[in-house]
Amino acid sequence: MTDWMQRWENGETGWHKGDTNARLIEYIDCLKLEQGSTVFVPLCGKSLDMLYLLKQGYKVIGVELSSLAADAFFQENAIAYSVQQASNFKVYNGNNIRIFCGDYFALDEGHLQAVSAVYDRAALIALPVNLRAKYAQHLYAIIPADCQILLLTLNYPQEQSSPPPFAIDETAVNALFERFECQQLGCFDDIKNEPKYQQFGVKFMEKATYCLRKKQE
Ligand SMILES: C[S@@+](CC[C@H](N)C(=O)[O-])C[C@H]1O[C@@H](n2cnc3c(N)ncnc32)[C@H](O)[C@@H]1O
Repeated sequence: MTDWMQRWENGETGWHKGDTNARLIEYIDCLKLEQGSTVFVPLCGKSLDMLYLLKQGYKVIGVELSSLAADAFFQENAIAYSVQQASNFKVYNGNNIRIFCGDYFALDEGHLQAVSAVYDRAALIALPVNLRAKYAQHLYAIIPADCQILLLTLNYPQEQSSPPPFAIDETAVNALFERFECQQLGCFDDIKNEPKYQQFGVKFMEKATYCLRKKQE
């Protein structure tokens, strides 16, 4: 956790993108969102994908460790906000958006009652392998039963570049989310658009997209 705080303090946020993720735009319909419904964005950083969701007429709940990231999201996008201290979180509230500043693993289902969907871009793959199962189990525990999840992952030869992001393939995703129905929506090699990884000699960069839903138990 301190690593992430340090990265924000040092401005080492290479994962942050200046525009909306193309796969969110392409696959958002799988979330089956109605106007005004709420999307949970775990490990949200200051992602502009949250701005896109707001502009489509949805509400957003994020969780993020770093208050630098939360402050930056509101300030850089000129969104008015207030901050309150609750038990485990500093809570940032803006119009239709709330960011819980603190640890994802401290969230409970009470925080996410209103949520209809989850959008995971660079959350699962930000976590080391030993935290993945805990991440998936916690997600299962805190989201409502009928939630749809859009999960974006990367897979590449991990030995050719040090994580994060942590590479993950379809077999591992299926095993991790065994309590979810899991459908791969698409997967393509995008190494041509990843000059940093090309420099390291990385041979491929598979970008996969999944739609998940909790199995009825
Ligand atoms: C790779 S970044 C991705 C951010 C965002 N999803 C995006 O697409 O730009 C991972 C983020 O997760 C945050 N993070 C890491 N561990 C966390 C935790 N346990 N709880 C909440 N946030 C966490 C980091 O501070 C960082 O901003």
